[in-house]
Amino acid sequence: MTTATTGTRAVKASVGTAHTRVEGRDKVTGTARYAGEIPFAELAHGWLVLSTAARGRIRSIETAPVLAMPGVLTVLHNENAPPLDTDYMGMLGKPDPTAAVFQHDRVPHVGWPVALVVAETSEQAREAAEVLAVHYEQEPHDIAFSADRPDAYTLDGFSPAVTEKGDLEAELGASATVVDAEYTTPEEHHNPMEPHAATALWDGGRLEVVDSNQGTTWVAGEIANMFSLDPGSVRVRSEHVGGGFGSKGLRAHQVAAVMAATVLQRPVRVVMTRRQMFSLAGYRSPTTQRVRLGADADGRLRALDHSSLSATSTVHEFIESSAGPARTMYDADAHHTANRVVRLDVPTPTFMRAPGEAPGSFALESAFDELAEKVGIDPIELRVRNEPERGPVSGLPFSSRNLIACFREGARRFGWADRDPRPGVRRDGRWLLGTGTAAASFGAGAGPSTAAVTAEADGTFTVRVNAADIGTGARTALTLVAADALETTPDQVRVRIGDSDLGPAMLAGGSMGTRSWAWAVTLAADELRERLALNTGVPPEGITVRSDTTAAIGALSQKERHSFGAQFAEVAVDPATGEVRVRRMLGMFAAGRIVNPLTARNQFVGGMTWGISMALHEEAVRDRATGGHYGADLAGYHVAAHADVPYIEADWVDDVDPEDPVGIKGIGEIGIVGAAAAVANAVWHATGVRHRNLPIRPDRVLTAGGHA
Ligand code: MOS
Repeated sequence: MTTATTGTRAVKASVGTAHTRVEGRDKVTGTARYAGEIPFAELAHGWLVLSTAARGRIRSIETAPVLAMPGVLTVLHNENAPPLDTDYMGMLGKPDPTAAVFQHDRVPHVGWPVALVVAETSEQAREAAEVLAVHYEQEPHDIAFSADRPDAYTLDGFSPAVTEKGDLEAELGASATVVDAEYTTPEEHHNPMEPHAATALWDGGRLEVVDSNQGTTWVAGEIANMFSLDPGSVRVRSEHVGGGFGSKGLRAHQVAAVMAATVLQRPVRVVMTRRQMFSLAGYRSPTTQRVRLGADADGRLRALDHSSLSATSTVHEFIESSAGPARTMYDADAHHTANRVVRLDVPTPTFMRAPGEAPGSFALESAFDELAEKVGIDPIELRVRNEPERGPVSGLPFSSRNLIACFREGARRFGWADRDPRPGVRRDGRWLLGTGTAAASFGAGAGPSTAAVTAEADGTFTVRVNAADIGTGARTALTLVAADALETTPDQVRVRIGDSDLGPAMLAGGSMGTRSWAWAVTLAADELRERLALNTGVPPEGITVRSDTTAAIGALSQKERHSFGAQFAEVAVDPATGEVRVRRMLGMFAAGRIVNPLTARNQFVGGMTWGISMALHEEAVRDRATGGHYGADLAGYHVAAHADVPYIEADWVDDVDPEDPVGIKGIGEIGIVGAAAAVANAVWHATGVRHRNLPIRPDRVLTAGGHA
């Protein structure tokens, strides 16, 4: 452990040591308040009414009987709502107009917000909302997602839709071995524990929104744009967040709350129910993916083709870029990737933990396992033979790529060397046993942020950075980073986050949050430490240094920057019931410097658990007749629970990012990447049957047969 000195005091480095969450006591004792439970005087409650029609128009809304109900204050809908602006570029581009509620009579999908009933109490609002009669002019709807949609089209996301290198058909034709397979993943939902909730109020000419979101700079900017307000007049706070996973950006509930608070001139709270979250919170689109791999007899790839189709709504384009991981992972003489989308009468999907990488890695890493089987080479050795020197598509060097180190260390700990490659030959009573592996990668980026660090007169420090701790432990990580930069101990540092008044900062997304904020905190703290070294004393108001990382991040060289990982799973399959149990999992990651091993391990294990969930449980099923879901709740939509997760181990290899001031890369999303493929590959090893459609449900295992 390294030590630094401040004055005469030797201080141990905090980054890299395990710390429980600084707000942990507040959370477990209930002192920490979440957005839906912070008290406000004169609070009114809004309840959203969602469309039951899958496509058409609102013909009429019978508001009169509802307005006469106890406590009801108003009903907002398309005929009385104030106009909103959706023609702007926000932090992540054009907004999804789904959040701009009640602007027209068109209904583009089931679950479209059609009205907000506001009442004195939440119960009164709910009761009135449930009896509000909305009449629709229904039109035929189309929610049929399939690989052969003639209306599918290519769409750029945060990366180009299509990449092409070499003559694919020629290289496939010249390959000794070819894998050509189609994989599907279903519609999946975020389901954070804390539902989306917002309270809006006008206070002395300023709009204040107390919310649960992944970035208050982002959400405040969207609200200011949508309501045509001066950005300085909007304050969004989000102190504690019970999970987001990509779903907590600007959504209908905040906009409806702001609208109602403006109309009524009193505080209004809107909370989503779990069931409403299945329509209003975004979700991961289903995908259908074709992967073609062509290899020489020694396993070297001659051809790689990954083509993915996902769905979006008719009101906004969002693409699940599942063909993306192939652009990082493997090179080939001919290398083609394409992301396509089809517009359906469904809600707009959105970012969901490892968007693109999670479903894309299921297809690509399953196909790689199929190739290993066909060419008769161990799956890890096959990856070693196909390790690229540079970005397969970009041609850029990797900032660091420690994938093989993850495989070697993971294989050692998991006991891979003793593995018999033959499928369907291991038994434990009624269970067939198998093991599988898969690779993982996720982009390691950073976004511009500002921070302010204050040396207080009492010798402590206050850090102000508009970070979002969505359960990741970001607040604690930043405390450790600041303590090291200030050459002090974490107990001398208080970190203020989750308030747009703290100044602009990156959102908690793309696994970039902690790295982006830590960068800004480090810049400010370094300069403050230099000033304090001059020993001029600290005045009563303290000394504050501010930072802005825009220039530093803009000056980064062109490189391929990613975290990497190796996933291992052991499963047991009961061929009589079709049940699949994951017995153990190991994830080894190369994901930059690990700031707090305790919360980092939580992140990895959480992602891997979600991978098990993706492999075996999660699936939102839509009814073609109504366009809506069956079982839009946690009874109908299965997520992995404790009993599904007996033993998960996550660890990491040394992988300090040389270009980051703290060495961080980002760990938020990589835990899920490759996890579902590792489980599916283990199910093949157990049974001899490939499962290319997720989730691997008991009925699928039973109908697929295999070694019994
Ligand atoms: Mo994440 S899906 O960038 O919150």
